[in-house]
Amino acid sequence: MIGEISRICGRNFSRMVFCKSSSFSINHQRSFAVTKSMAEQGKKLFTPGPLGTSRTVREAALPDLGSRDVVFIDKVKYLRSRLVQIAGVREEDYTTVPIQGSGTFAVEAVIQTAVPRTGGKVLLLENGAYGKRMAKICEYLGIPYHQESFPENQKVDLNRVADILRADNSFTLVSVVHCETSSGVINPVVEVGSVVRQILPDCVFFVDAMSSFGAIPLDMTAGSVDFMVSSANKCLQGIPGFSYSVARKTALEKCKGNSRSLSLDLYDQYQGLESTGQFRFTPATHTMLAFCQALKEFDEEGGLQGRSARYIENRRIIREGMRKLGFTEFLDSSHDGYIITSYNFPDHPNFDFKTFYSKLNEKDQVIYPGKVLNADCFRIGNIGDLYPKDMSHLLVCIEQVCEDMGIPLPLRS
Ligand SMILES: Cc1ncc(COP(=O)(O)O)c(C=O)c1O
Repeated sequence: MIGEISRICGRNFSRMVFCKSSSFSINHQRSFAVTKSMAEQGKKLFTPGPLGTSRTVREAALPDLGSRDVVFIDKVKYLRSRLVQIAGVREEDYTTVPIQGSGTFAVEAVIQTAVPRTGGKVLLLENGAYGKRMAKICEYLGIPYHQESFPENQKVDLNRVADILRADNSFTLVSVVHCETSSGVINPVVEVGSVVRQILPDCVFFVDAMSSFGAIPLDMTAGSVDFMVSSANKCLQGIPGFSYSVARKTALEKCKGNSRSLSLDLYDQYQGLESTGQFRFTPATHTMLAFCQALKEFDEEGGLQGRSARYIENRRIIREGMRKLGFTEFLDSSHDGYIITSYNFPDHPNFDFKTFYSKLNEKDQVIYPGKVLNADCFRIGNIGDLYPKDMSHLLVCIEQVCEDMGIPLPLRS
């Protein structure tokens, strides 16, 4: 992350963060000044993560609490059960297994726990960076896989999925990303799950719903989903530090002995939590306290319905505003996701993304570089602690920055 931002911001950012040598004290003061102002005001993060969080969520992380404290054990019990409810499935059938670390840790934990050591084979349905990351995980783990790639601006194609499964019945796990955050495409998870269950009834179906869980409905029962993953600092708006899988108990219970890793053994983590209520290794105590507050705020906002309504409104404002300014979207209008939008770089000689990014950042507006391979894009997220007024303010800042860069608006196509 620092590497990515550092590349975007150039040398100044690395100097601020990595204060070294004789210029230490000047740079240190400067870095402190930045840190202080950020702590007081915060930046608006229009990014896919880390996402902005409310002050009350961050404040809930203040108490120190031992991992064996009954208060903490109760909080963990509560959040595990609440996540199953939010997933819309029954606690008799499903459980939540939190895992320390960012979202990728949960993705990796599921893949390497759910795929048997012998005879296991994964079908990865991929249309962007996060699907590609699963292939990398399989490579690292030496797990046999077939990566079926779809264009980055299109949804996973069901007919092709059915053809592949009919032609090869050796797959033991099929995975798909719900919201492919690199572009904003929403994949038809329920339909993919139905195809998998119809053709290979015993195959495990795994959904990476990292950036959509809690904001875009996902019917895990209709889609016959065995493992779903997301993380604390996505649409449920906790602070970063742990991720989780909502897993079908019968699928999880078959996973004993599969894991290639001790710390990412989802089965063992589950057994530990079930038998003692405690984590095997140091849990993200502060993050979990903050997450309980985040769940409270999620409920107060009206749960998934309330949260998605705000994100949809955020998306409407940014979409209409950007259109007026002449920016074009990477995806065509058949896509209706509201998590994040990829915008094509303006075709103007003065446009330079690093400058655009830095000037917006100076105004405390943080956007994100693109992550699609076939087009020059930047991304604007609608999720996290962002409200319609924030989206409108971002539009004003974009106008000011374009003027500053000598880019007349509206852009000409
Ligand atoms: C769909 C998806 N999968 C996986 C990840 C990886 O999560 P993390 O960066 O927290 O490891 C992300 C991150 O944004 C994501 O959007």
